[in-house]
Amino acid sequence: MERREIEQLVRTELVKNVLQTQKFIIAGNWKMNKSKHEVISFLDEVANHDFGEKNTIIIAPPDPYLYLFEDKLRYSKVLYGVQNLFPKESGAYTGELSYTTAKDFGAKYAILGHSERRDLFLECDMLISKKVRICVQNQITPILCIGENLILRQGESYKNHLMGQIKEGLERISGEELSKIIIAYEPIWAIGTGVTATPQQVEETHMFLREFLIQEYGSNLGSTIPLLYGGSVKPSNVKDLALAQSVSGFLIGGASLDASTFKEINNILNGN
Ligand code: PGA
Repeated sequence: MERREIEQLVRTELVKNVLQTQKFIIAGNWKMNKSKHEVISFLDEVANHDFGEKNTIIIAPPDPYLYLFEDKLRYSKVLYGVQNLFPKESGAYTGELSYTTAKDFGAKYAILGHSERRDLFLECDMLISKKVRICVQNQITPILCIGENLILRQGESYKNHLMGQIKEGLERISGEELSKIIIAYEPIWAIGTGVTATPQQVEETHMFLREFLIQEYGSNLGSTIPLLYGGSVKPSNVKDLALAQSVSGFLIGGASLDASTFKEINNILNGN
C-alpha cells in the first residue's frame, strides 16, 4: 500500500471515531412550511426511527402542528420546540404564542432571535433577551440565534456584532442559568442561499465565540454552552462542518424538511 493510501485510511478511521463518539445536537427549523398531511407522513417516518443514543434530535414546526408532535412523538427520541414565542403568560397580544401554550403542547425548545425574526419582524436584542429569560425560567431551552450579514462579514466588524448579540441576548441570564442555553451561529449570507460557510470559516468563528464565552462567563460555563452552526447545512457538507472545532451541532432549515435527508444527516453524524 502506498503512503498516501495509508494516510487516507488513517484519516478515515480517525474521522469515523470522532463522529461515533461526539454528541451532536441536530435541530430542524421548518419555518413556514408543510401541510398537515406532510407533517403526519414526516412524523410517521421519524417517530420510531433508530437515531442512536448520542445525538439530540429536535424539530421546530409551525405552531399549529404542535398537537401532532405531542401525539405522535410521545414515546419517541425526537424532541420538539417552537420557532418563536412571546414572553408573557397570556393577555392582549394578538397573533402571538405564549410560552405557556408552547409548554402545554410539550415544546422543550424555542428558537429565539432567528435572523428572519430580527430582519423581517424587527425583533431587537432587548425583546429577545426577555424571551430567553422566560424560557429559562419555564424549562424551555432557548436556542439563541446570532449571525452577521454579508456587509458586516466583509467589513471585519462582524465579531463585535456577534459579541453584542450574545451579551444582549443573555443580559437577563445569570450564573447556573447559562447552562440551560444553546447558541446557534448562523451567518445570514449562508441561510437558505446554498452558500455554506467553509469549515475553516466556521471553526474560526466558533473558536472566537468560544473564547469570548469563556472570558465573559467563566471557563466552566463558557466552555460547555453548546454552539450550533446553521446555514445551508446538508448531507454533502455536514461531515466536514462537524469536524470544525467547537461545533456542537446544527440548526438546519431546508434540509430538515425531508425525513430521509434529516435521517441521513443524523446517520453521518453517527459516523455511519
Ligand atoms: P437553511 O436555514 O439550512 O435552509 O440555510 C437555516 C436556518 O435558517 O436556521
